Amino acid sequence: MSNYHIKHLEEYFQVYRKSVRYPEVFWEEVAEEHFLWRKKWDKVLEWDFSKPEIKWFQGAKLNITENCLDKHLYIRGDKTAILFEPNDPKEEAQHITYKQLHEKVCRFANVLKSKGIQKGDRVVIYLPMIPELAVSVLACARIGAIHSVVFAGFSSTALSTRINDCQAKMVITSDGSYRGGKTIDLKGIVDEGLEECTTVENVLVAKRINSDIEMKSGRDHWLQPLLDEASSECDAEIMDAEDPLFILYTSGSTGRPKGMLHTTGGYMVYTAYTFKNVFQYKENDIYWCTADIGWITGHSYIVYGPLANGATTVMFEGVPSYPDYGRFWEIVQKHKITQFYTAPTAIRALAKENLDFVNKYDLSSLRILGTVGEPINEEAWHWYNDNIGDKKCPIVDTWWQTETGGVLISPIPFSTPTKPTYATLPMPGIQPALMDENGNEIKGNSVEGRLCIKFPWPSIARTIWGDHERYKNTYFSAFENKYFTGDGALRDEVGYYRITGRVDDVIIVSGHNLGTAPIEDSINEHPAVAESAIVGFPHDIKGNALYGYVILKETGEVRDRDNLRTEINQLITDHIGPIAKLNKIQFVPGLPKTRSGKIMRRILRKIASKDTSNLGDTSTLLNPEVVELIMKDAL
Ligand code: WTA
Repeated sequence: MSNYHIKHLEEYFQVYRKSVRYPEVFWEEVAEEHFLWRKKWDKVLEWDFSKPEIKWFQGAKLNITENCLDKHLYIRGDKTAILFEPNDPKEEAQHITYKQLHEKVCRFANVLKSKGIQKGDRVVIYLPMIPELAVSVLACARIGAIHSVVFAGFSSTALSTRINDCQAKMVITSDGSYRGGKTIDLKGIVDEGLEECTTVENVLVAKRINSDIEMKSGRDHWLQPLLDEASSECDAEIMDAEDPLFILYTSGSTGRPKGMLHTTGGYMVYTAYTFKNVFQYKENDIYWCTADIGWITGHSYIVYGPLANGATTVMFEGVPSYPDYGRFWEIVQKHKITQFYTAPTAIRALAKENLDFVNKYDLSSLRILGTVGEPINEEAWHWYNDNIGDKKCPIVDTWWQTETGGVLISPIPFSTPTKPTYATLPMPGIQPALMDENGNEIKGNSVEGRLCIKFPWPSIARTIWGDHERYKNTYFSAFENKYFTGDGALRDEVGYYRITGRVDDVIIVSGHNLGTAPIEDSINEHPAVAESAIVGFPHDIKGNALYGYVILKETGEVRDRDNLRTEINQLITDHIGPIAKLNKIQFVPGLPKTRSGKIMRRILRKIASKDTSNLGDTSTLLNPEVVELIMKDAL
């Protein structure tokens, strides 16, 4: 039996049982066999969910980049580590070997040092999907700086909020980015964001679109000349297993974004382990995850997990619709992709287009398909299975979160029989529990409840940067001694899990988590707006779209409603980014509220979904009459 590589269902059950009965022994064996440690741990695990405090591999010393780069130099130094596919198909793809990547990372790490970055400093990375993004992430890890990648679709306000929250000393960006037929002025967004920040001393700027940008003297530096001057050798900083590796922000249902902190040793072990098993990775595979490194999926399954296994990982700069809707499949054919991992929203968007876009290409290299980010609906699942996988490729519906660091529930391809819309079974080491509203665990099969995890796994986030109390309240307070995911799930008659969606005020739009509160805050900044409430409603492609109910101030002034809608969406774009724009905006005379003043979103959700046959109990409302008025004008 191999702990590290599960090859059939019986083996999965054996490994799983062992991982639950003897978690420390199990993870110790995995960690020992497959990674480079400068010093082994004194203790495998120490945990207390009530504090919460979780420590894996305490006392161990390592550097994750030695595991992602140095370890491979002799065995596969000339193998492609990163395969970069540019936005424009006419531009040549780049094959960066492990040797070259090692050198690039070392040079970059030396540049960081020369600009005063030290172990523990925070570096915000705001880059498009170009090789410099992966290189800068690894360069930070090389010297023990804590990277915080901010998705380059976020606005300047969202960027400055994150920079200020983690008190970053440096920002790494580019002169701009390509996105389909458009270019985006990233540096301009950084300049604007930095007006609100005081901690950033230096900005490194990669050249991508050759645009004529302003460089602030003393603060901004072109990256390339610094790299050219830097030494190509850089000893890795020796880190403690529990030293921070990165902060990644995710939306909460209320308040500011949460800076989830991941640490080094456990994160490495778990992402590498799950990559190997969920994608059944083999030495000559060409693996492609279409996510952006600005999200956790890109961190764990474009950068760290694949590289720790010595894999070839594809980085795609562009979008699925450029130059046409066949782009993904053209890339699959061109690079003979073996594993393809994407989001249900992309599948739904592509399934709407003519099948010729698919049939033009030879997809026979594909062995495994994956999805992540939101529940996949049955129709999309079948389209993916029939047309992309030719019914031969198992689909791994991987459920996990920014907070979990790696995949927690997923089929193991060729072992676990798949079932449409089901993430199926927990990974080794993962102990799910479904809870009822009274805080009791619901045992047995064919049941539904709130999804919790009962036991720590190596890559669970350790805290929210700067706000441990919020970490405790958000994840460890709803159910005693359990990590609460915020998701609902059901367990079918054989024990398979299906994730049914968020049970809090986070809405997943096109696979992106959006908290209602920050969007409402942006809307409420409009001088004409008195109050607002956002809910999600089903959308063919996005999964969910946003519906805003807005109360205007009574000023007696008549305003053009369409202009107001445009202005409100502009405010949201400025504060958060275009991903959070509202699909529908209804102006309402009031919002249904409980006697304690809480907005009854359940009712608003039903109205937005045109599902008003049973609105449930409205008698506890302070203002039941408003429900009729809202329904009358619903969009
Ligand atoms: C949702 C993405 C159903 C879920 C890795 C979770 C999913 C949130 C799935 C985390 C899936 C993710 N099926 N729902 N396979 N994968 N989700 O932090 O609601 O961006 O809590 O991490 O996405 O989103 P995040």
